[in-house]
Amino acid sequence: MNNEILQKVEKLLSEMTLHEKIGQLNQPETPSADNAEAFKEAVRNGEVGSILMSVGATAGNDAQGAIDISFYNEIQRIAVEESKNHIPLIFGRDVIHGHHTVFPVPLAMAASFNSDLIEQSYRDIAQEAAQESIHWTFTPMLDLARDPRWGRIIEGPGEDPYVGARFASAVVSGLQGDDLSKSDTLVACAKHYVGYGASEGGRDYHRTEISDYSLHNYYLPAFRSAVKAGARTVMSSFNDVNGQPITSSSYYLTDILRDKLGFEGFVVSDYDAVIQLKRQGVAADDADCAAMALNAGLDMDMHDYCYAANLEKLVESGKVSMEAVDNAVKRILYVKFEKGLFDHPYCTPAGYDKNEHLKHARELADESIVLLKNSDHLLPLDKSAKICLIGPFATERRSLLGSWCIDGTAEETPCLLDALKESSTGKIEYSSGLGLNWDSTLKKAYNSDVVVLALGESWSSTGEARAVSNISIPPEQLAIIKKVKAAGKKTVGVLFCGRPIEMQEISNELDAVIYAWHNGSASAPAVCDILFGDVSPSGKLPATLPRLATHIPLYYNITSSGRPVNCYYNENPYDCYIDSIPTPCYPFGYGLSYTTFNYSRPECDKTEISLGDLEAGKKITVSVNLENAGDYDAKETVQLYMNTPVAKMMRPIRELKSFKKIFLKQKTNETVSFELGYEDFGYYDPCGNYVVEKGVRNVFVGENCLTVNKVSVIIK
Ligand code: GLC
Repeated sequence: MNNEILQKVEKLLSEMTLHEKIGQLNQPETPSADNAEAFKEAVRNGEVGSILMSVGATAGNDAQGAIDISFYNEIQRIAVEESKNHIPLIFGRDVIHGHHTVFPVPLAMAASFNSDLIEQSYRDIAQEAAQESIHWTFTPMLDLARDPRWGRIIEGPGEDPYVGARFASAVVSGLQGDDLSKSDTLVACAKHYVGYGASEGGRDYHRTEISDYSLHNYYLPAFRSAVKAGARTVMSSFNDVNGQPITSSSYYLTDILRDKLGFEGFVVSDYDAVIQLKRQGVAADDADCAAMALNAGLDMDMHDYCYAANLEKLVESGKVSMEAVDNAVKRILYVKFEKGLFDHPYCTPAGYDKNEHLKHARELADESIVLLKNSDHLLPLDKSAKICLIGPFATERRSLLGSWCIDGTAEETPCLLDALKESSTGKIEYSSGLGLNWDSTLKKAYNSDVVVLALGESWSSTGEARAVSNISIPPEQLAIIKKVKAAGKKTVGVLFCGRPIEMQEISNELDAVIYAWHNGSASAPAVCDILFGDVSPSGKLPATLPRLATHIPLYYNITSSGRPVNCYYNENPYDCYIDSIPTPCYPFGYGLSYTTFNYSRPECDKTEISLGDLEAGKKITVSVNLENAGDYDAKETVQLYMNTPVAKMMRPIRELKSFKKIFLKQKTNETVSFELGYEDFGYYDPCGNYVVEKGVRNVFVGENCLTVNKVSVIIK
């Protein structure tokens, strides 16, 4: 913490009344025109600390108006020049994966396994958003998720804690930069703390069942990383864990988040989450809600005015201490000072290079695309190929931007038909495939060299409050896949999906499959980059693609059964269900390339190390030689997994411990090395204590979680 800022905070606090202190904890949403004057009066009276720059409980699903910079500058002027304490407001908005330039949805970003590109993307995003009055964004969303029925799986980094941790660090660094007071940075917000992704049945806002052991080893690592990266804010989650709503739990919000993880910023509630404590059955009335949340360590109250309406009486009655209020105010003021709001309270747009941002968006989209199947090396296509493009997503624009792109513009987003015409030198025939004119569609297909199907899921079935019970491709699209076979042509399926969908039926019917996600503004040009081989696909799955939805939950980092039925690893899969085989259709970390990568056996610089040496900072280096034996320059994400065969607590059959994305020119090779230290060999016990036990570790290095390319080391 910066002492100079701390002194300014203390001085300001000493001049504030209780009423004004509580005002800092209040975050209403953008006022409508008809209550703007009353809102300005509240700002003048010091009753508002922040504005949620949107309208509605699910801002990502509802078009938000363009940002009126002059309005926010006027509000800020009133706060700075007309209020008694001259405290600027901090303006927050959900800039989740892009502003005007929309980048891939976070799940797709995670598929790139390219932390540098992700960080660069958030530098661009911060620069764009900061020029429209935004100081603070409610991202990164770090909810580990294993249930693709949950619409918000698209907003986070998938099923693995280590990918989540790397994603967290890249996003926070990208948004906050190295000096938060710079005008092209945004305050980051690690959310939703914690366990929201475990919503039962994938049903949004539902209860969770998370053991302390799972909490510390699966759900907390990404937050640990965000705190370590310096995230200045955290958003508490709607859900409960272990019988307690996070919103009112001092165990999770203070004992763990602050005392164990060392978080020093401020916590904002989720939308109306404070007042919802009544529905969750822990508070009798609004006053109880306010008292419980504030005493738990929740600093800022989003939208429901529960703090503003109740805290003053609660402090006067002694149910809430002035110290608790002061602590919350100090944390918020500290971030406002750090953001430079007292020195530069107003927004003065400086412009940015939109083309540069689009270039980065395309690079990230290129590297997010996952090639799932490529029979007989059908792909890449020759640019002169006669292509018959069929499917509703051939002309789709809005869905390519994904959910939570409230400042993106569908009209400016090229669809696949546009992009193909732009990049192909051959004839492009098109049909939506939905009408009755199947004879003409088939004729077009028959007269082409190859059929490309443009399929996917609507953006509006993903995101918040968008859980689905059916994760299969829409039936009319499945019908297209089956009907087009009559043309007898090789068929490529391009799947513009946000969430993981069930793949069994689709995969069997198609000759090649590209998972193109909701990849943002450059979705369609990126698909063409891959289709024509300008870029060799390098995306890897951050979440399992199941054969059937009925196999959910299905994720790779499971602990072993006592019986030989670890179906994820193809161990007697017939014994798991008597009516279907629940092996993954495509496993975590999976993704094909146009080239062939060969891995040597992993080698270690030492096969054993003492626990003492590890504690002293000594490392084990594990290396493989990676060969690009094919005919394409390409990138490969080399993944390092670990298995601990014996420990006091059950450890996963595989856990990702590191990855490196390597570019290799064709017919070249390179040694790829990983340094493994104390922090890589252990786990957290149910009390959250990090433990490294002596014993064997099996280390796997390969192309996805199923690799058997192994070396073993011993910790003595
Ligand atoms: C929503 C979401 C949260 C978002 C907030 C503000 O309900 O849960 O992710 O940041 O409200 O829009």
